[in-house]
Amino acid sequence: MSKRATKYIGILTSGGDCPGLNAAIRGVGKAAQGVFGMRVIGFRDGFRGLMENRTAPLELENLSGILTVGGTILGTSRDKPRRMLVGGKEIDVSESIIANYEKHHLDALVCLGGGGTQKNALYLKGKGLNVITLPKTIDNDVAMTDVSFGYDTALGIATEAIDRLHSTAHSHYRIVVVEIMGHRAGWLALGAGIAGGADVILIPEIPYDIEKVAEAIRQRSRTGKHFSVVAVAEGAMSVRDAAHFHAADEAKQEATTKVQRKKAKAVLAEFQARHSGNTLRLTKQLEHLTGLESRVTILGYVQRGGSPSAVDRLLATRLGTACADLISEGTYGVMVASRGERTEPVPLEKVAGKRKTVPKDHPWITSARLVGTSLGD
Ligand code: F6P
Repeated sequence: MSKRATKYIGILTSGGDCPGLNAAIRGVGKAAQGVFGMRVIGFRDGFRGLMENRTAPLELENLSGILTVGGTILGTSRDKPRRMLVGGKEIDVSESIIANYEKHHLDALVCLGGGGTQKNALYLKGKGLNVITLPKTIDNDVAMTDVSFGYDTALGIATEAIDRLHSTAHSHYRIVVVEIMGHRAGWLALGAGIAGGADVILIPEIPYDIEKVAEAIRQRSRTGKHFSVVAVAEGAMSVRDAAHFHAADEAKQEATTKVQRKKAKAVLAEFQARHSGNTLRLTKQLEHLTGLESRVTILGYVQRGGSPSAVDRLLATRLGTACADLISEGTYGVMVASRGERTEPVPLEKVAGKRKTVPKDHPWITSARLVGTSLGD
């Protein structure tokens, strides 16, 4: 690690919050100021705060006491530089963003976020800004990194929930269906489902057949186990729904005109609105098909809240400090990824627009099947 001339860096958090964001801000900020002699400033509420020049001090004293704190001290939003709602209209705000970047004499902008943030950062890189990103999300679906911070904490929360649901399902001879976050990737439902010993795990990557799910539960009953815990990812779909969804998604990708794109988007939005009640419908269907009383528990935002686990604090600190080191060397346009024990800068072009989903032959899938867990297929 070498000391360089004073650099000015900005930090923002964007997308859904998660545990570990503050630990990462602290990691970047402490190393940047304490070791590399940089000046650090925060921007509030993601790219919107950068566009509106709303700042937050991130001096060393502001970074004390935040390691264990959940959420983000900077605030966050899902606003995109390319299309931000301003005065009732969606406009490209990159000019204001560039102006504020220059106003603060920034040498680099650190963006902490998930898949959407990687895309937004790449967009700003294309506009000439020195961006560098860190991967966060409880969904663990950011491409090109083994893991994102936030995931381990959420995994612990969801696993504990399944543990607790087991004893009540068992006592009442019920099916308990527990909905776990993850629209497009099933890492959280799969990980917590295996760790918590769920009897059925349904994830977006493996469309399910409701009859097969019901049969797995009936089979348990036949062996004297008159209860079941079903861990279902938000985005899990039946085979039929998955076919509809993929057709609509493909139509959106292939749309060449504005009209086609608008139509495809409307079809997808309608599908998603209908799908939002899926876990409740699934619970009722299973009650009907098995004759077992059924209950639903939606874990929701409890999975994203509270203090980060030790693993997430370590990961966020490791990636955050590595980020400051990379900035000191003048490495930009990359995401700071975790690869095994190491930290690696990955060009944003390789990350943006990609999603890390659960491969059907992943060892966790194999193990789940080997312990007799139904994956609904
Ligand atoms: O991306 C993280 C995540 O928590 C997803 O698991 C979930 O589907 C989504 O965010 C919810 O987003 P929002 O905070 O916008 O409701």
